[in-house]
Amino acid sequence: MWQNIVVVGAQWGDEGKGKVVDALADYFDIVARYQGGANAGHTVVVNGTKFILQLLPTGVVRPGKIAVIGNGVVVNPDALLGEVERVEEAGVAVGNRLLVSDRAHLILPYHRIHEVAAEQARGVGKIGTTAKGIGPCYEDKAGRRGLRAGDLRNPEEFRRKCAEVVAEKNRIASALFAGTPLEADSMVEEYFQRARAVAPYVTDTSVFLNNEITSGKRVLFEGAQGTLLDLDHGTYPFVTSSSASAGGACTGTGVGPTRIHAVVGVSKAYCTRVGSGPFPTEASGPEGDKLRERGGEYGAVTGRPRSCGWFDVPAMRHSVRLNDLRALVITKLDILDHLAEIPVGVEYELGGKRFKEFPSELGTLEKAKVHYRIMPGWQQPTFGLTEFAQLPPKAQDYLNFLSDQVGVKIAMVSTGPERHQTIWRNENWEVLRSQRAEARSK
Ligand code: GDP
Ligand code: IMO
Ligand code: MG
Repeated sequence: MWQNIVVVGAQWGDEGKGKVVDALADYFDIVARYQGGANAGHTVVVNGTKFILQLLPTGVVRPGKIAVIGNGVVVNPDALLGEVERVEEAGVAVGNRLLVSDRAHLILPYHRIHEVAAEQARGVGKIGTTAKGIGPCYEDKAGRRGLRAGDLRNPEEFRRKCAEVVAEKNRIASALFAGTPLEADSMVEEYFQRARAVAPYVTDTSVFLNNEITSGKRVLFEGAQGTLLDLDHGTYPFVTSSSASAGGACTGTGVGPTRIHAVVGVSKAYCTRVGSGPFPTEASGPEGDKLRERGGEYGAVTGRPRSCGWFDVPAMRHSVRLNDLRALVITKLDILDHLAEIPVGVEYELGGKRFKEFPSELGTLEKAKVHYRIMPGWQQPTFGLTEFAQLPPKAQDYLNFLSDQVGVKIAMVSTGPERHQTIWRNENWEVLRSQRAEARSK
């Protein structure tokens, strides 16, 4: 049975994971984040109250659920404490429902300094990052010079390690160019005084999660970003620095792969991307502008306008294979309600060859021509609908077409930002169905 699942973004992020994880969280005991950091912006709307979660797992807004920040996440203590405060101000007590892995790496002030300099140095080739220090923090993790949440428990060790790292960074910086050196003592003191408030949440979350799973508790692993931003499988180098696809759930929490039973992918009924990098099905011009305006496609955290375009079948097939998606959730169907015709990218073509596999080379992605199937629009409101049968027949056809093209059943359709604006296709949830029944009878 699907005791534990991963919910993963199947596109370039912002698919509506927050909304979907929140809807599903009712049927799980624990929601665990496994990668990324405060570069994420997951929006949840509950009875008109909007939460934008960056580091906190979405489950935190549901009383009684445990929220775990796994070892694969990079934590900025200020961002985390600020978020806890905001959620509590909105009337949701966090208290001991939050656990942070002692192995999660910490973002320090020099990570953001490094990122800004690196982006400037790239000039027009910049990645268009969120400037939260994510990439440089993961670089230090791989470079084996990171500081971890567990270090906050031991002030002396924290000061010593931090001073060593700062000295190393200054040595590297002065060997490369003469910059203003980092000043360890004041930085460490200032940082530590604030960051130590995170220490009470810090624990070995791998032990916790595995024990809970053994005792029958259900865990939902919440992905951030999306599969096409995955460090290995995304549109490298225009990616984030972590394993955003489902495989990251294991390394990012210390839970073995055979303890996770299914992966659910979240995709918009169309497609968006923010930051630099190729976007084959982008609709530039008025069509894209209309999608952006209707969909409110501006970064939840950075406010940057998102590029908008059409559902991309080769990209989704890539996601389906990499994550072994067993169910697909399609969000923001209502945003397409105005269209007379809806293009769907079904194949790429380059050098006279047509193909359906998502290429690894950036050049191919940039140059490939996309072949579209034009689907008829329904031009009727779907906003807020809760039953599949209520959808206009052409909207049903559109969804069935996407499902057939990518070979995965659609188990949920989202028709609005609120929790209840959701179509559950119970027949496609297989085991979740029994979980729902059980959860209801509790
Ligand atoms: P995430 O990062 O994947 O959680 O997605 P974001 O929160 O960054 O962006 C999704 C946006 O779409 C948010 O503003 C959501 O409130 C909103 N949203 C989610 N699902 C739907 C939907 O089905 N219809 C509409 N109109 N808005 C939605
Ligand atoms: P959620 O979880 C969309 C993008 C950035 C940039 C690239 C690298 O809300 O879906 P980074 O700061 O991670 O080094 O930036 O990744 N990016 C996202 N795009 N949604 C996100 O998160 C993103 N997090 C990072 O725009 O292109
Ligand atoms: Mg987002």
